[in-house]
Amino acid sequence: MRIVVAKDYDQMSRMAAIVVASRVILQPDCVLGLATGQTPLGLYRNLVEFYRHGDLDFSRVTTFNLDEYVGLAPDHPCSYHRYMEDNLFSHVNIPRENCHIPRGDAEDLEEECRRYEEAICAAGGVDLQILGLGVDGHIGFNEPDVKFEGSTHVVRLAQSTLEANSRFFPSPEQMPRFAISMGIKTIMRARRVLLLASGEEKARAVRGAVLGEVTPDLPASILQLHPNATIIVDEKAASLIR
Ligand code: F6R
Repeated sequence: MRIVVAKDYDQMSRMAAIVVASRVILQPDCVLGLATGQTPLGLYRNLVEFYRHGDLDFSRVTTFNLDEYVGLAPDHPCSYHRYMEDNLFSHVNIPRENCHIPRGDAEDLEEECRRYEEAICAAGGVDLQILGLGVDGHIGFNEPDVKFEGSTHVVRLAQSTLEANSRFFPSPEQMPRFAISMGIKTIMRARRVLLLASGEEKARAVRGAVLGEVTPDLPASILQLHPNATIIVDEKAASLIR
């Protein structure tokens, strides 16, 4: 596991954008695994900037997002479909048919999980998976558990995740309690993984991910076993590993 400590959020975002941009330049038809939330916003801003300068071409890139809230249609203002549209897809030349996000409003959620997992395999797997980190150590929405959940699945969100993410909804009651998430096996199969974390509130999870035992109790710790994982954290998130 490579650990890079950036000065602050902005530097972390620029470094992450350089890593992602390099992949797109070197492998124009690459498959990117994408995350949502607060953390990758700066990364996406930088990628849009590179694109506007004519340095990046997304026309052959394929993307698979990590997760989506159960019950939210793609046009729901708090859906991850909408987030991706607003923060990346509508600003670059990526063909929409290449962009994949689980359907949280699918009638048959189990079938949707199967379909999603198969679509990732059919695309040849993920070349570079971007990950954020939950305060409880979750990656994707793989919450602390007694076992690692393998493939794309429906997950009940942990209390700490509900508390952390309800601020993005008009009221806490409107936040869905369940999500569809890529599983740990799906994430671990990616050829490269790039985990980002910023801020003091992530310091404990970063420490567990990097120095703790590998345990489903802190899902990100599994990345210690990934052959090509890079973590870029800012100084505050790195405060307990230095
Ligand atoms: C989002 C995702 C989550 C977030 C994590 C951190 O697609 O899979 O694991 O990365 O909850 O969220 P932020 O970045 O908002 O702190």
